[in-house]
Amino acid sequence: MAFWCLSILLIVGFLSKSEAQLSDEAALVAINRELGVPGWSNNGTDYCTWVRLKCGANNSFVEMLNLSGLQLRGNVTLISDLRSLKHLDLSSNNFNGPIPASFGNLSELEFLDLSLNRFVGGIPVEFSKLRGLRALNISNNLLVGEIPDELMVLERLGEFQVSGNGLNGSIPHWVGNLSNLRVFTAYENDLGGEIPSGLGSVSELELLNLHSNQLEGKIPKGVFEKGKLKVLVLTQNRFTGELPEAVGICSGLSSIRIGNNELVGVIPRTIGNISGLTYFEADNNNLSGEIIAEFSKCSNLTLLNLAANGFAGTIPTELGQLMNLQELILSGNSLFGEIPESFLGCGNLNKLDLSNNRLNGTIPKELCSMPRLQYLLLDQNSIRGDIPHEIGNCVKLLQLQLGRNYLTGTIPPEIGRMRNLQIALNLSFNHLHGSLPPELGKLDKLVSLDVSNNLLTGSIPQLLKGMMSLIEVNFSNNLLNGPVPVFVPFQKSPNSSFSGNKELCGAPLSFSCGYSDDLEHMRYNHRVSYRIVLAVIGSGVAVFVSVTVVVILFMMREKQEKAAAKNVDVEENIEDEQPAIIAGNVFLENLKQGIDLDAVVKATMKESNKLSTGTFSSVYKAVMPSGMIVSVKKLKSMDRAITHHQNKMIRELERLSKLCHDHLVRPIGFVIYDDVALLLHQHLPNGNLTQLIHESTKKPEYQPDWPMRLSIAVGVAEGLAFLHHVAIIHLDVSSSNVLLDSGYKPVLGEIEISKLLDPSRGTASISSVAGSFGYIPPEYAYTMQVTAPGNVYSYGVVLLEILTSRAPVEEEFGEGVDLVKWVHGASARGETPEQILDAKLSTVSFAWRKEMLAALKIALLCTDITPAKRPKMKKVVEMLQEVEQS
Ligand SMILES: *[C@@H]1O[C@H](CO)[C@@H](O)[C@H](O)[C@H]1NC(C)=O
Ligand SMILES: *[C@@H]1O[C@H](CO)[C@@H](O)[C@H](O)[C@H]1NC(C)=O
Ligand SMILES: *[C@@H]1O[C@H](CO)[C@@H](O)[C@H](O)[C@H]1NC(C)=O
Ligand SMILES: *[C@@H]1O[C@H](CO)[C@@H](O)[C@H](O)[C@H]1NC(C)=O
Ligand SMILES: *[C@@H]1O[C@H](CO)[C@@H](O)[C@H](O)[C@H]1NC(C)=O
Ligand SMILES: *[C@@H]1O[C@H](CO)[C@@H](O)[C@H](O)[C@H]1NC(C)=O
Ligand SMILES: *[C@@H]1O[C@H](CO)[C@@H](O)[C@H](O)[C@H]1NC(C)=O
Ligand SMILES: *[C@@H]1O[C@H](CO)[C@@H](O)[C@H](O)[C@H]1NC(C)=O
Ligand SMILES: *[C@@H]1O[C@H](CO)[C@@H](O)[C@H](O)[C@H]1NC(C)=O
Repeated sequence: MAFWCLSILLIVGFLSKSEAQLSDEAALVAINRELGVPGWSNNGTDYCTWVRLKCGANNSFVEMLNLSGLQLRGNVTLISDLRSLKHLDLSSNNFNGPIPASFGNLSELEFLDLSLNRFVGGIPVEFSKLRGLRALNISNNLLVGEIPDELMVLERLGEFQVSGNGLNGSIPHWVGNLSNLRVFTAYENDLGGEIPSGLGSVSELELLNLHSNQLEGKIPKGVFEKGKLKVLVLTQNRFTGELPEAVGICSGLSSIRIGNNELVGVIPRTIGNISGLTYFEADNNNLSGEIIAEFSKCSNLTLLNLAANGFAGTIPTELGQLMNLQELILSGNSLFGEIPESFLGCGNLNKLDLSNNRLNGTIPKELCSMPRLQYLLLDQNSIRGDIPHEIGNCVKLLQLQLGRNYLTGTIPPEIGRMRNLQIALNLSFNHLHGSLPPELGKLDKLVSLDVSNNLLTGSIPQLLKGMMSLIEVNFSNNLLNGPVPVFVPFQKSPNSSFSGNKELCGAPLSFSCGYSDDLEHMRYNHRVSYRIVLAVIGSGVAVFVSVTVVVILFMMREKQEKAAAKNVDVEENIEDEQPAIIAGNVFLENLKQGIDLDAVVKATMKESNKLSTGTFSSVYKAVMPSGMIVSVKKLKSMDRAITHHQNKMIRELERLSKLCHDHLVRPIGFVIYDDVALLLHQHLPNGNLTQLIHESTKKPEYQPDWPMRLSIAVGVAEGLAFLHHVAIIHLDVSSSNVLLDSGYKPVLGEIEISKLLDPSRGTASISSVAGSFGYIPPEYAYTMQVTAPGNVYSYGVVLLEILTSRAPVEEEFGEGVDLVKWVHGASARGETPEQILDAKLSTVSFAWRKEMLAALKIALLCTDITPAKRPKMKKVVEMLQEVEQS
């Protein structure tokens, strides 16, 4: 057959072409052998008909090859034998190693996309041979070094994308001379120096994104000169000087993001010429002057963030004309005067943050006529007058911050109507008087309540026990009286949450209320409170801190233009119809067959499949048509996270899915639809360690014995040691995140949250405190850093739970004493180990007792108050294995 082809072609006299033809076929066969491209086969069909490639119109040379998103790995060098390629897309695979220099031989290449792989090393100078290249995308790899000057000759480049690597040096000056350049992205690298002065003045630049580098100098006005710029992102650099007036030339600009720099001066009034502006973010600079009314001419503006600058004057009433505005963030300036009533017309406003200014007006009665308001942050101002009763109309509100003002009057009972209030209700440091309205008890999603430092009187209403999600309370420095209601979140609080009220009594305060109150305490069944603690932890509220950090971070991120256009409330849609999946994948090849992503989505629509619920995530059990069972974690309200970090998130998940360890829960896939992300995990049928230790106490026959507990302790330690070995810090080590498989083998969960927030790569805001109540190491309170020794501490708490069968926080320990303090204080109290260890186990045999004492020693080391004194996880594993083998 080959011979026939060859001879026919020879006769027609296409010698050189036939050679090329053969070599393209041979090359494709070899490429397929190396990479295993799905759908390619060599059973005699004309390769020009194969999927994902195209031959030229008049010949049989492969001109287009698109292997994007096939999870391929292997050696891509062979592709450089397809000499006629014009269009090569290898993006979104698992290719690693250096980019082959031989790609420089693809002299016809016009489009080259190698993004979203794991290519290492430098950008090959051989790319300089690709003289016809119009688009080069090598973003999101692991490339290092400088952008080589040899590429200067690529004069036809229109799109040049190198973001998300480890590139250093500066942006070469010749990038400013590329006369066709429309798109240039180099964000998330280590680039320094200035923006080349020519950039934008030669070419018709449309998109410039350089965020998260160390760039400095001024924003050159040339960038705006041609007037074609649509998106400008310079966030998180060290730019100085002013935003040039020339910015107004670009009437098609939709997004300007220049936050977190060192910019000075005023915002040019020419901003008003940019009629299509949807997004303006300039927070955390040294900008000054007034907030210009010209913003009101940008009728499509969805987000205006000028926080943490030096703006003064009043808030222009004209801003109320911005019908599309969703977030207005002006906090941390020196603004004074009233909150303009004109805002009430902003029907789409979702977040109004005017905190930390000098506003000295009152709260407008009609504020809640804004139907979508979720964040109302007016704290740290000089706001006078009453909290209007109409505040109860803000039914969508998630957070209400009114602390540190001069508010007077009483707390309106209508606050109880804000049933969605979750993140915080803070009325502290005002002049509020009267009693606490019992209606507050209806806020069953609220996590943090602060009414401290007011003039409140009367008793704390028993009905506040309805606040089932409460973690943080502060009633201090008021004129409250009577007993503190018996309610776990109250008694778990430090006494400073109640102090400064002369006539308040009962735990956690040290003043007892006398006989009747004691009686109530005596009757107060431990188990009941226990169950509440478990309910709180189990429902994921305790994980709140870590999960919210993620969600809030993302919520603070940019508003999507898309979201603005889409006026429908996503949540309301969900019930009617199966939503369209935006992205989804199963990472493990052997599970692909068994998992149906549509069935996964469908399963999460059914309440009966729900295994547990938290404030920001729920877990469902999904039975596949194939009979396979997977566990599905549903994360909500992450639309911006998904749209802006989708690729990164997916890459992280994929990477984690390859972290193959017996004692770590492995993400097996994901689905994204609307504003929802579903994470798929293996289904672990035996619940978690909290349930095993604490709930099984009711049924002695299920009481886990010591050898089983020790093997769980070793397993968890091994999982955590492995994570640390690959430089991942877990954010929420706790017994409720230790899941148990069918053989009671422990598997540590919530890995993806840890990785998403890997502090080593993150910015300051990411290094927030995280963890579950009772497991948080003491130093987190002041270092605000999540660390490996912090993980060791939390692990120590888990080990103590295993040894003592006690919960990390129990009121029996006494005021301000958690499990760690209780155990460390045992010898000072003159208690024997038997009084700490679970006696049901330690008294069974001499051998068990000896092992438990050895393990207790390790737990004490892990929970040492000095982080540096705690052993490394690897050492912990070794010590525990010694205990196991002895
Ligand atoms: C073999 O070639 C035929 C066309 O001749 C094609 O339809 C078929 O899919 C190929 N077989 C395989 C296993 O790829
Ligand atoms: C290919 O064929 C088209 C029309 O059939 C012709 O216009 C074009 O010039 C040819 N290209 C080459 C490279 O021969
Ligand atoms: C390559 O194929 C993928 C998936 O089929 C598609 O999304 C992408 O746009 C294609 N790339 C090019 C450059 O055509
Ligand atoms: C890939 O294959 C080429 C030969 O085709 C070889 O020279 C090269 O070393 C290989 N690269 C890697 C990373 O194995
Ligand atoms: C292809 O490129 C490599 C590396 O740049 C070079 O060594 C080799 O000679 C080139 N092959 C051809 C046929 O040009
Ligand atoms: C890479 O860049 C090219 C050119 O700008 C673009 O068309 C392509 O969509 C990018 N690839 C990915 C995966 O975003
Ligand atoms: C840039 O990175 C490379 C490789 O990581 C390193 O060798 C070089 O010293 C760095 N250059 C600068 C200027 O930091
Ligand atoms: C505002 O957005 C809408 C919808 O995207 C668009 O049709 C309109 O032209 C935009 N207005 C301006 C002034 O750009
Ligand atoms: C608010 O503060 C400004 C500036 O300090 C002052 O001029 C104005 O009189 C104050 N308004 C009220 C109502 O106190």
